[in-house]
Amino acid sequence: MPIEPGKTPFQVDLRLHLRERDEDRDLTRVICELATASRYIIHSIRTGELGVAGTSNLYGESQLKLDVLADRIIRKRMLHTGVIAAIASEEREEIQVVDPDGKFSVAFDPLDGSSLVDVNLAVGTIVGIYKGNDVFKPGREMVAALYILYGPRCTLVYSTGHGTHEFAMNALMEYTLVQENIQMAEKANIYAPGGIRNQYSPAVEAFVSHLEERGSKLRYSGGFVPDINQILIKGQGVFLYPHLRNMPRGKLRMLYELNPMAFLVEQAGGAASNGHQPILDIELEGIDHCEPVFIGSKADVAKVEGLIKTLDS
Ligand code: AHG
Ligand code: MN
Ligand code: MN
Repeated sequence: MPIEPGKTPFQVDLRLHLRERDEDRDLTRVICELATASRYIIHSIRTGELGVAGTSNLYGESQLKLDVLADRIIRKRMLHTGVIAAIASEEREEIQVVDPDGKFSVAFDPLDGSSLVDVNLAVGTIVGIYKGNDVFKPGREMVAALYILYGPRCTLVYSTGHGTHEFAMNALMEYTLVQENIQMAEKANIYAPGGIRNQYSPAVEAFVSHLEERGSKLRYSGGFVPDINQILIKGQGVFLYPHLRNMPRGKLRMLYELNPMAFLVEQAGGAASNGHQPILDIELEGIDHCEPVFIGSKADVAKVEGLIKTLDS
């Protein structure tokens, strides 16, 4: 997007960025409400103010777990838009139908990496946005995806299918543009390997050995959002949570985790595969459908696909 003369990129806020790209007004509203939800979530993470229900707090009220609270905050903001058909969340077993004639549906992991909250590592929110009232579609049919990273800074990375863009929350809790059209290099020199190595298949073991021999550095935090963010913002890297001998479908969920991240990484020129086909082409089998994942620099994702074909079949 051309930046107007006299304006630095830091003065372009999220709404303006979407408006200047002529995005659908209602889609803009959904994305901006998600950005608003993140203000409340980051506040709760930083202050430990966890609302009502669950265990008691100082005042004798009960508190929510942070992931349950994040779910409620996002749900409320989504209802507020008036354009939502259905809401699917990792925190709920059932999809909430809001209005079958609504314009968009959302699927989200309200707080990914929630076990990292106690140890003060970075966590995030991941969202996929679909047209109409159905989220049971291949990820390629998403109209937008985004994540919010609650780290030392709070950042938001979104795509509506026209590149992947990074924003950071400022002192006024508004998101301003940091980087437009993130581009990933073909090869990785950092890698983030999930799962237990003695459970790796021959192909995955060979792939990790290949990366190590090439001098790639290990970068794994245990949080999908910060791990993917590192790869996107560094412009190279590969994350894997592969098929394991004791977990053949991997750990990460298509609807809430893999599809949105695959969309963002593909839009930045990277790739995401289950080892056989692109994540975004996989038909969803259910809301809890998991797949192995290899995501990041394109040539390395192709490399592991090749190894799986020859060594794992
Ligand atoms: P969640 O907290 O939503 O259940 O997801 C955690 C995920 C993801 O953040 C991360 O990549 C992965 O689990 C880490 O798993 P391991 O602890 O097995 O490394
Ligand atoms: Mn998760
Ligand atoms: Mn979660």
